[in-house]
Amino acid sequence: MKIVQTELFKEMEKGLEGKEWSSVLMLPSFVMRKSVEGKSGEYYALDLGGTNFRVLRLVLKDSKVVNVQQAKFKIPLEHVTGETACSDGLFGFIATSVKKFIGDSRVNYPPLGFTFSFPMTKKSLNSGILVRWTKSFTTHGVVGEDVCGLLADQFKRHSVPMGVTAVINDTVGTLVTEYFEDDTALLGVIIGTGFNVAYWEKVANIPKYIRANPSADPSHSMCINMEVGNFDSPHMKVLKYVANEYDAKIDAASPNKKLGLVEKMVSGLYMGEIARMALLDLKKQGIIRGLDGKLEKKNGFPSWHLSGCVADDTLRLRKISSILKKNYGVNTTLEERKAFRLVCGWVVVRSARIAATIIGSVVLRTGYEWDCTVAIDGSVFEKTPGYPELMQKAFKDLYGEQPFNIRLVLTKDGSGKGAGLSAALMS
Ligand code: GLC
Repeated sequence: MKIVQTELFKEMEKGLEGKEWSSVLMLPSFVMRKSVEGKSGEYYALDLGGTNFRVLRLVLKDSKVVNVQQAKFKIPLEHVTGETACSDGLFGFIATSVKKFIGDSRVNYPPLGFTFSFPMTKKSLNSGILVRWTKSFTTHGVVGEDVCGLLADQFKRHSVPMGVTAVINDTVGTLVTEYFEDDTALLGVIIGTGFNVAYWEKVANIPKYIRANPSADPSHSMCINMEVGNFDSPHMKVLKYVANEYDAKIDAASPNKKLGLVEKMVSGLYMGEIARMALLDLKKQGIIRGLDGKLEKKNGFPSWHLSGCVADDTLRLRKISSILKKNYGVNTTLEERKAFRLVCGWVVVRSARIAATIIGSVVLRTGYEWDCTVAIDGSVFEKTPGYPELMQKAFKDLYGEQPFNIRLVLTKDGSGKGAGLSAALMS
């Protein structure tokens, strides 16, 4: 853990300095830590980052969200990956979905926040150039482009009377959402399909931002999107101590090879697959039987089933039995179910300990480990029983005898609401 911490500190420093290459991008968000007082009015938010796209309308009264309306649209796969996936298709889909959401309501350029959950370099609050795709996106014509510009073109084409006020990462949205409730919120974290961390950093500690914005006040704090899912990629200087052959296979089969190596160990897009491959090996070795059909296919065991398996605390592991019977038509012996429980548990423990080591290290860097709130959203954190406790246990191992009080708070929908709240905070 300490080795990971030392390496992370080094990489963070290099990323903030911006002179040498670093595995963590440490991206300035242009969202500042300011007073949340007196925010009222109507804000819109867009949320793009996974399989669904969402549009939200928030009403704020005295800085409290008093009303939320939202609609969810499944993004057709043809816009996400494959030969046909292109920027016009993806952003055209966003514009038409927004149009459906606003319908006949007479919106006239309301403040609009856009959560775009990928690495972006920014020159202002309402611009963001995509550095590279992560997770399973490969849409052509977006990398190197300003996503707000692409969206503005499609808004124009589809006569949507809106323009982006703030484009942010989902980790930034999660931090800002919690910050509206609790001003000790220090980190925003996503442990879901992807894994990433944002935190408040003193402007004085972000030389690359000061160089680009010489009039910036160094005493202010800005939210930094770390893009920590890419930590230690591609060389695995420290991750090699916890990596195995299944990680290598996951990476080889992914569209972003040798990138996002931490994300591939921690997040929900990959955990089920790691467990499935390990279980198939046990089958090959004759240790367990069954596992036919779907379980033999690539990505055949989604992470939410893995979470279901680790949730089984019955003596005869009946929950696992029912998950495997119902979804895969597999009958299992108790011994086989124990193997499932063990393998799934192992994948979860590793994920939680890596996530906690990274989060604990970032908290330590800020110097607030004795009292702070870490806002976390994402299916892995929310739906995997015992995950927060595993993280707390890892903090103990990391901090030793030092007093610490890190509250891990589930911040539901930080990714959606956070965009609207960031627009409000910065208005
Ligand atoms: C990926 C993205 C990052 C996002 C995370 C969680 O790591 O690169 O921007 O925050 O997934 O959605």
